[in-house]
Amino acid sequence: MTAAETPKIAFQDRLLSLGLARVSEAAALASAHLIGRGDEKAADQAAVNAMREQLNLLDITGVVVIGEGERDEAPMLYIGEEVGTGNGPAVDIALDPLEGTALTAKDMPNALTVIAMAPRGSLLHAPDVYMDKLAIGPGYAPGVVTLEMSPAERVRALARAKGCAADEITVCILDRDRHEAMIADVRRTGAAIRLITDGDVAGVIHCAEAHITGIDMYMGAGGAPEGVLAASALKCMGGQIYGRLLFRNADEKARAAKAGITDLNRVYARDDMVTGDVIFAATGVTMGSILPGIKREPGWVTTETLLMRSKTGSVRRMIYKTPVK
Ligand code: FBP
Repeated sequence: MTAAETPKIAFQDRLLSLGLARVSEAAALASAHLIGRGDEKAADQAAVNAMREQLNLLDITGVVVIGEGERDEAPMLYIGEEVGTGNGPAVDIALDPLEGTALTAKDMPNALTVIAMAPRGSLLHAPDVYMDKLAIGPGYAPGVVTLEMSPAERVRALARAKGCAADEITVCILDRDRHEAMIADVRRTGAAIRLITDGDVAGVIHCAEAHITGIDMYMGAGGAPEGVLAASALKCMGGQIYGRLLFRNADEKARAAKAGITDLNRVYARDDMVTGDVIFAATGVTMGSILPGIKREPGWVTTETLLMRSKTGSVRRMIYKTPVK
């Protein structure tokens, strides 16, 4: 039978979602003993190994499109690596086995393991460059805030749409020198800013549950791969995210070309980054405002995983308690 004759297997997102939660859980459990030990690399490696092992048990014909890096930089879960048993639907995988390696090493809030899966060809192959991002939660008209607006204009537009004063808006921004002017502009509106040291996937997800997290909007430059993961989460939870790739040199532009990107100035909306149905799982590693961290007690370890499907908009929180091996 030729490839063209091979019957297409449907995505089976309902069945696969539980498997995806297991993959995410496994990565978190593997990094548990490395929380707060000051070793980012070891924590990341443990999560990568476990995620890969579990992923290869799933009945999928998977390809990593957002992973640990290019093949020559990352021996495992590199972009283009084929994962799964090969007996199942053709899917794209976006993953970050440890989103917030420094947060984990320092035992600071909101480190997560993150993975998204979608039918083959439906996740943006974002190169490993920065992306200018802007995100808000559900319930707003499309385009109420845009990347073209100044940071202050975004705050005022969101406040108008929310029916509150600008000083009642809270914006989440990565604490980086490159954001100095953005932070100053937001401050001029009177809005509050929650500065985070790392972890902008969590930063964006906060917007989807503004009533719990207190964060209305995320903005700033962070990793483009993390942008696709955040878009996957918002596709399940509702909310808007816009991203534009940022290039600092010719090498970064070459990475985009390799990923098949021709329009370097394109603004990607959420559904441009994730064009089909997606399933998303994230497990808390360190304590956080979206997910509690891994709980360790004598003989036992407990994780909590957020598991979501865009097709149904279902959001599950799964607590998993297992004996320490
Ligand atoms: P790691 O998980 O690779 O440590 O990334 C953490 C992170 O904070 C991302 O959430 C964010 O998109 C990116 O790094 C920001 O990059 P930089 O540290 O270069 O500003």
